[in-house]
Amino acid sequence: MTDDASVPLTTTFWEQRYQDGKTGWDLGQPAPPFVALLASDQAPPPGRIAVLGAGSGQDALLFADRGFEVVGFDLAPTAIATATQAARDRQLAAQFLQRDIFNLEPEFASSFDYVLEHTCFCAIAPALRSDYVQLVHWLLRPGGELIALFWAHTMPGGPPFGSTVEELHQRFTAQFTLVSWAKATHSVPSRQDAEYLGRFRRSD
Ligand SMILES: C[S@@+](CC[C@H](N)C(=O)[O-])C[C@H]1O[C@@H](n2cnc3c(N)ncnc32)[C@H](O)[C@@H]1O
Repeated sequence: MTDDASVPLTTTFWEQRYQDGKTGWDLGQPAPPFVALLASDQAPPPGRIAVLGAGSGQDALLFADRGFEVVGFDLAPTAIATATQAARDRQLAAQFLQRDIFNLEPEFASSFDYVLEHTCFCAIAPALRSDYVQLVHWLLRPGGELIALFWAHTMPGGPPFGSTVEELHQRFTAQFTLVSWAKATHSVPSRQDAEYLGRFRRSD
């Protein structure tokens, strides 16, 4: 789409994408690998979960529907309004807050059992990737878990910015204890063989 140096990844940038309906990342459904995970015998038990870059709330509301206490964060007011309305329509008790994930209030520190990642890591500037890993650690209580569906594509430019499987694995295992890591099953066709489902525990 463009390159790292030339994109001002501001609230205005993301809000404009929602207002223009240029939201090609939005699957219009929860990510199928998350649906499969929650239906499996590996499903995490319900707890308080932060959803980073929650967008229109598809994944967040899947977890809310399965009994998780959801707090979704996103920069774009339109995304927050859409997700909030969807929660109301479905009578789900999820909370959606318009925030920059890199500027969250201290009250959120160590306050989540889980963090959910899906196409937020690839949406931020690559220069912020170390900050993102630290942010996840900061949000999780000790023993809490990152549940991540990473899109390891190698298309030029961004967002979505590419990353290798090796980079993703290395960045998160450097900070967390690996629980599981595998190529995702049930990916949508456009992301087939390029998605990895990882679970990482905060152990310190
Ligand atoms: C590619 S979209 C993915 C949305 C959603 N996770 C999904 O899969 O449909 C990236 C989202 O992250 C949000 N975002 C980007 N940078 C952010 C930041 N610093 N803080 C909060 N949200 C951010 C954007 O507004 C956008 O909704």
